[in-house]
Amino acid sequence: MIKKGIILAGGLGTRMSPLTKAVNKQLLPIYDKPLIFYPLSVLMLAGIKEILIIVNKGKLAQFKKVLPNGNNLGIKINYAEQKHPRGLPDAFLVGEKFIGKNNVALILGDNFFYGQSLTKKLKDCVKLNEGATVILHPVKNPSAYGVAKVNKRNKIIKIIEKPKKNFSNLAVTGLYFFDNKVVNLSKKLKLSKRNEVEIVDLLNQYKRKNKLRAEFLGRGGAWLDTGSIKDFYDASAFVAALENRQGLKIACLEEIALKNKWIDKKNILDAIKFYGKCEYTQYLLNLVKKTK
Ligand code: TTP
Repeated sequence: MIKKGIILAGGLGTRMSPLTKAVNKQLLPIYDKPLIFYPLSVLMLAGIKEILIIVNKGKLAQFKKVLPNGNNLGIKINYAEQKHPRGLPDAFLVGEKFIGKNNVALILGDNFFYGQSLTKKLKDCVKLNEGATVILHPVKNPSAYGVAKVNKRNKIIKIIEKPKKNFSNLAVTGLYFFDNKVVNLSKKLKLSKRNEVEIVDLLNQYKRKNKLRAEFLGRGGAWLDTGSIKDFYDASAFVAALENRQGLKIACLEEIALKNKWIDKKNILDAIKFYGKCEYTQYLLNLVKKTK
């Protein structure tokens, strides 16, 4: 069972410069909330209450302004700093103490997931005892991603970073579930040509032992990564279209916490004070009215 989760929210955000010169990418808006709310909501939907957010050196204060400690969400938010963006598996070295002897989920701070039965799928993934699980989703341009091929039993049989030859359209998304071996395996990784430790190298170690499983969002699911400015606007338009049509918010953290029975009405009222007069608050007010 996985009870701990890491959000990797550092990075240089080079492709988004000059927007990212002063502010970290994960704090920029996807429509009506900071990007980091979306990956955090995914961990919360999975039932994970102990969270480590890894940020760039010197950026802690910025993040704490909007996500102080998780008290009002009934969760525990810990922070750690990454000295420089050394690659995704570095999360397990920076997070070693936080992980302890537990299994752990990792989500990239710039990944967005949405879709029917997402919560059920996430709850299945956190049941993991041994090995690793990745979430795969089809993309039009696989050569830009880590790509995987699976057998009939959903075991991954091939996985390559940015393949030149097309062998599958299934991209490896930025949400991973690992057993505790991940910490030691990450320590042994060598730096790649781009001077980073590579998630694909880590996943390949599980694959070699026949311990790498795939889960799928399915055709009705959406996975967006928000690496470029165009991605940001596309994701914002997606959220705006759904929220304004349905009157239901995506990644309203307080709503998820309330549904999970981690908080009560009083916490929502505190959140309202914290956010001040805004549209998000209006939504929370409506939530309070509906809550007994
Ligand atoms: P990337 O998209 O690889 O990098 P980036 O966000 O810094 O953007 P750019 O390529 O434009 O410079 O990272 C994916 C996510 O993982 C993103 O949310 C940042 C985070 N990240 C870290 O926190 N630490 C790291 O060492 C790396 C490589 C990424």
